[in-house]
Amino acid sequence: MAKSKTTFVCQECGYESLKWIGKCPNCNVWNSMVEEIKKVSVSSGISSTSNSLPKSILNIKSSEYDRFDTGISELNRVLGSGIVKGSLTLISGAPGIGKSTLLLQTANNIAKKYGKVLYISGEESEEQIKMRGDRLEAISQELYIVSETNLEKIEEHIENIKPVFVIIDSIQTLYKQSITSAPGSVSQVRESSNDIMRIGKTKNISFFIVAHITKQGELAGPRVLEHMVDTVLSFEGERTEDFRILRTMKNRFGTTSEIGVFEMKENGLEEISNPSAVFLEETGFQKEGSVVIGIMEGTRPILVEIQALVSETKAVMPRRTVVGVDSSRLNLILAVLEKKLKVPFYNCDVYVNVVGGLDVDGTFGDLGLALSLISSIKSKEIGLENLLVVGELGLTGEVRPISFCDRLVNEAEKMGFKNVIIPFRNKEKIKSKGINIIGVSSLKEAVNKVF
Ligand code: TYD
Ligand code: MG
Repeated sequence: MAKSKTTFVCQECGYESLKWIGKCPNCNVWNSMVEEIKKVSVSSGISSTSNSLPKSILNIKSSEYDRFDTGISELNRVLGSGIVKGSLTLISGAPGIGKSTLLLQTANNIAKKYGKVLYISGEESEEQIKMRGDRLEAISQELYIVSETNLEKIEEHIENIKPVFVIIDSIQTLYKQSITSAPGSVSQVRESSNDIMRIGKTKNISFFIVAHITKQGELAGPRVLEHMVDTVLSFEGERTEDFRILRTMKNRFGTTSEIGVFEMKENGLEEISNPSAVFLEETGFQKEGSVVIGIMEGTRPILVEIQALVSETKAVMPRRTVVGVDSSRLNLILAVLEKKLKVPFYNCDVYVNVVGGLDVDGTFGDLGLALSLISSIKSKEIGLENLLVVGELGLTGEVRPISFCDRLVNEAEKMGFKNVIIPFRNKEKIKSKGINIIGVSSLKEAVNKVF
């Protein structure tokens, strides 16, 4: 027997409460609690899918995951060489970023190579999707499209068509008739995902599910969604710029450190297999406050331009505005510059920007950022042409070695750079001929080399 009771569920984070409250105690969002009827079945509702007994790990046969090649190598890389058969992947991103475009292209590639693919859209009509398909040249015979939001009907379609790959665009539009709350509510999202997972795992179908993000940039719906699925991808980028970056937030079948870079073109998303080339497109001439730094995104070295602007201010609290760099890292570097080089920033506004919308985390860019700040405050260009700067900065002003330095130097050489400044302790191990390598062990030394 199932009996029902109502609870109040936070639509931002999934927190549940028996009483209505104005502010969610879990995520501190106001007015997010909505009453939902919750079915409590006496049996848990979960039935075992296999009759297996516990056995020693040595007696379990392992097999390499069977994967679909998506035909898009940037996507393959992010997933860990393709989509694992029977896996559940969530892809999130702001509206208009290109999720539907990427998935329609992927669906078409898989349909061409492996057979039937079902693209279920709750947001667009079949005609709209066809128009997009025409534009993307994603119109293969085995690609099936349906505009549907009712989960029971969707299950029937899957039963009839027997696809190898299903796309659900988006989870927030789905609803189960047996649940009274509105589509997109936490209960609906949770129950629909549960069903999708059951269908995927029992029929060995791979699913891609599109999920919207909230105003705060978090995945809408309960956190449980992230725990249930195998892989969580996030599609990011500025809508005004054409570059898009695909990241893995979680991956049961590979690392989470790889990124995929795309450009939104007139006929769909185009892969960028050499990101340094696009992020550096407009550099090549010397500018005040501009330095090229190198970072590692997964196994890939990427060179990006970092720009600093320092201007005097009379404000009591000078501004520190950063895009693409961690602000606490900037503060640390400013403190080192003030203390070790006696360059005063306390009466200056500081703006830092990473060109191209990439996020620089980690410490590889420390030295480059420090040099760009000095270049701007002194209004002096960097004195070395075609220069790459990498290195971590310590609190005493020392330059610490970084990992993968050889890869970054190779990338710089490939991109036609003439000079690199790297940590002294990395220099011994690098044997590049085509590029002038300058090893430095302190910030002072680096400053002397370039100004
Ligand atoms: P879309 O995939 O619909 O975004 P999402 O599903 O994440 O909301 O992409 C929408 C944007 O992409 C839209 O503003 C137009 C642009 N676009 C192109 O520039 N070229 C194309 O070929 C397509 C299909 C879309
Ligand atoms: Mg869409």
